[in-house]
Amino acid sequence: MSLSAKKYEPLLNEGKDDIDDRRRSIDYALQLPINRKRDKTVRLLVVLNVVLAGLLLGAVIVLWEEKASVPAPPYSPAWEAVRHVNKRFARDDRLYPANETDAEVDKLWLNFTGPSNGHIILPMEEARKNVPSAEMYYEPGYYIYGLSMFHQVHCLDLIRRSFYPPTHSKHYFPNKSDDEVVKHKYHCFDYLRQSIMCSGDVTMDHWFNYTWTEPSFAAGGEGKAGDDWMAMLNPEYERLTPKQRHDHAPLLWDTTHFCRDYDALYQWVKDRQLVDDAYIKEFGIDEDIF
Ligand SMILES: *[C@@H]1O[C@H](CO)[C@@H](O)[C@H](O)[C@H]1NC(C)=O
Ligand SMILES: *[C@@H]1O[C@H](CO)[C@@H](O)[C@H](O)[C@H]1NC(C)=O
Ligand SMILES: *[C@@H]1O[C@H](CO)[C@@H](O)[C@H](O)[C@H]1NC(C)=O
Ligand SMILES: *[C@@H]1O[C@H](CO)[C@@H](O)[C@H](O)[C@H]1NC(C)=O
Repeated sequence: MSLSAKKYEPLLNEGKDDIDDRRRSIDYALQLPINRKRDKTVRLLVVLNVVLAGLLLGAVIVLWEEKASVPAPPYSPAWEAVRHVNKRFARDDRLYPANETDAEVDKLWLNFTGPSNGHIILPMEEARKNVPSAEMYYEPGYYIYGLSMFHQVHCLDLIRRSFYPPTHSKHYFPNKSDDEVVKHKYHCFDYLRQSIMCSGDVTMDHWFNYTWTEPSFAAGGEGKAGDDWMAMLNPEYERLTPKQRHDHAPLLWDTTHFCRDYDALYQWVKDRQLVDDAYIKEFGIDEDIF
């Protein structure tokens, strides 16, 4: 048995190497306190490693689940034009004319609906990656598409024009039957409802009256979220009953929203704009879409 053989090995057989080994083990014994410290450090590192590995695994699982719950967006060549800006909504005074059918206002709305009403042509290579569309009859190899945002603005414009009393509708749609106008209106209400619900704008509208805060707070017109506005309420607010506060607080919508940059999308469409006048004349800008 090798174990017992080693145990009873005569001391005389010790070579220089064996003596060195023993010396080392004596050193080892003398250094015990230091090594206990080292052991503690090792144990700490092991625990730390386990904790870090756990955290990392947790993070990977969270990210993986997050990725799994966010669907890949459908293809659009216009993703390349998407930029984000914070934009404060504001009343556009140009859109409040004395005469509802003011021609200058119509022009503004027409421009809101984009170059060629948001219609563009895309070369075959890009069309192929997209949902199918018709080849443009006057531009072989190019396919017609429209940026949804502009279609949605167009729909709003159509509602605006058909919203007015019947005589006004005749002003805007002289060649369309009432039935056609109504059908288009239904489509637009349905489309806009879905696009608004799709956007899921999470900005907070609020009910407030800036006469209730110190002027310094209201100076910018929009108190910033995060400023302690409750600490800046003035005596007038204290004077009012809760019901009076309710009655004197209008719904405010001129807050800052996180937006896709409209101008960037406008430019992207302009670069690919469908410019054919014959097409516009033939199909018009109020073509029926069903
Ligand atoms: C409003 O403008 C239209 C043209 O867009 C015009 O025919 C009409 O007479 C105007 N009405 C008034 C009250 O000015
Ligand atoms: C039309 O809209 C674009 C994009 O916002 C803007 O740059 C341009 O000045 C507008 N044109 C007119 C005539 O209002
Ligand atoms: C309505 O039809 C008439 C006759 O076809 C045409 O001259 C006119 O330009 C049309 N108007 C519109 C707004 O399409
Ligand atoms: C805001 O408060 C002022 C002062 O109390 C009041 O005159 C005004 O009518 C209020 N605004 C609204 C929209 O209630």
